[in-house]
Amino acid sequence: MAKPRTRFVCQHCGSAQSQWMGQCPRCATWNSLVEETVPVPSARNGLGRTAGASPGAAIRLDSVHSAQNDRIRLSDSELNRVFGGGLVAGSAVLLGGEPGIGKSTLMLQLALDMGAQTVLYVCGEESPEQVKMRAERLDGQGLELHLLPETDTSIILGQTELLKPGLLIVDSIQTLFNPHLESAPGTVGQIRESAHELIRHCKSRGIPLILIGHITKEGTLAGPKLLEHMVDVVLQFEGDRNHVYRLLRAQKNRFGSTAEIGIYEMNETGLQSVQDPSQWLVGQREDRLSGAAVGVIAEGARPLLIEAQALVSSAVYGTPQRSSTGFDGRRLNMLLAVLEKRCGFRLGAKDVFLNITGGLRIDDPAADLAVAAAILSSNEDLPIHPRFALIGEVGLGGEVRAVSHLGQRLGELERLGYQKVFLSAQNKSEGLRTKIELVAARRIDQMLDVLFA
Ligand code: TYD
Ligand code: MG
Repeated sequence: MAKPRTRFVCQHCGSAQSQWMGQCPRCATWNSLVEETVPVPSARNGLGRTAGASPGAAIRLDSVHSAQNDRIRLSDSELNRVFGGGLVAGSAVLLGGEPGIGKSTLMLQLALDMGAQTVLYVCGEESPEQVKMRAERLDGQGLELHLLPETDTSIILGQTELLKPGLLIVDSIQTLFNPHLESAPGTVGQIRESAHELIRHCKSRGIPLILIGHITKEGTLAGPKLLEHMVDVVLQFEGDRNHVYRLLRAQKNRFGSTAEIGIYEMNETGLQSVQDPSQWLVGQREDRLSGAAVGVIAEGARPLLIEAQALVSSAVYGTPQRSSTGFDGRRLNMLLAVLEKRCGFRLGAKDVFLNITGGLRIDDPAADLAVAAAILSSNEDLPIHPRFALIGEVGLGGEVRAVSHLGQRLGELERLGYQKVFLSAQNKSEGLRTKIELVAARRIDQMLDVLFA
């Protein structure tokens, strides 16, 4: 096969040069040239076409084959949920996460559990012996698991052609290289080119492809943002390396919701799915401690109990400190301003520390009330009753707003033995049947009457 020509394309203005330069001669942007192969004009993009349809012709919607039925049900229930009901055949998935968080472990577990299905696991970062050692710790069979310690994409494609696997896993995309490009593995050009080749190959053969990618210190996937556009699903594996809990969430999913999360626990024998996440999130509550409040967030269709912990103290230094873990810092400032303006609490000169327990990061506004209650509880040094929870969004005017999925949220609270819930008047007027006592309010200052009763 003839060596394909390469060119250097400016990522800013799109102009192409025959050799690398530090500055684009056209738009004068620095370090914007990235090497790529020159596309062969006749090459088609290889996206799945309905058999019989002539290339370039439009297809009637009802004659398009539905990929819904081609989902592979995985034995890992958390993965199934995050994928939206199973892994879609021919889909390209990018799994990102910080080093050491457990990406390789999660994928090896998946590979070991695929039964009689052939799996090709490309281990560019580790030797087969290392992978074998890990596999022995994990519980799984891996009857048809094949390891390939390679980083050259042409060899990987060759092996894929030979083995025709039912799943291809690449650990990691940053180690791959295309020998036709001069640039080193891990550079933008190499990552994009390798990913493009693999995705095109797997899509045209209906093979699901999972690419593992590293996260930089800034929290973005190392390599081009473009990689996220090339794949169908972007999964993020996160959590505190010092905690045993790990969260898997979809940042993008062409085949399902991005609201679903998977929760795992890392122990000596790999990652185990957590059966009752609410229980572990609020289970370790010290009874009757000030500064803690329970709320319910909805991750997809699944309600999750959360515990907000706040510490409010007089500022030791001139400027008060605000620190927030697991909750948006700007939203915390907004809530503090509302509490000050609408409820008359002098929080402006106080240090405020907020933490959502369990290493969870939340963005459901329904947690606002719980966060506000935790702050007030710490400020007054009065504990909130342990069987009391709060559900509601807080507006700038101090109004308590209704939330969605109320039935599921109340159901979860009821299941875990909660007796009283504070929520918006509008939510209460929905008239849901529940054993829990519902206390409604229109404004946040009305919360004070019930909080410490
Ligand atoms: P790994 O999957 O190698 O992380 P990544 O691929 O994201 O860099 O997992 C690394 C950590 O997981 C490592 O510190 C050890 C821990 N671990 C366990 O606690 N139990 C296990 O069974 C396995 C395989 C790993
Ligand atoms: Mg790894």
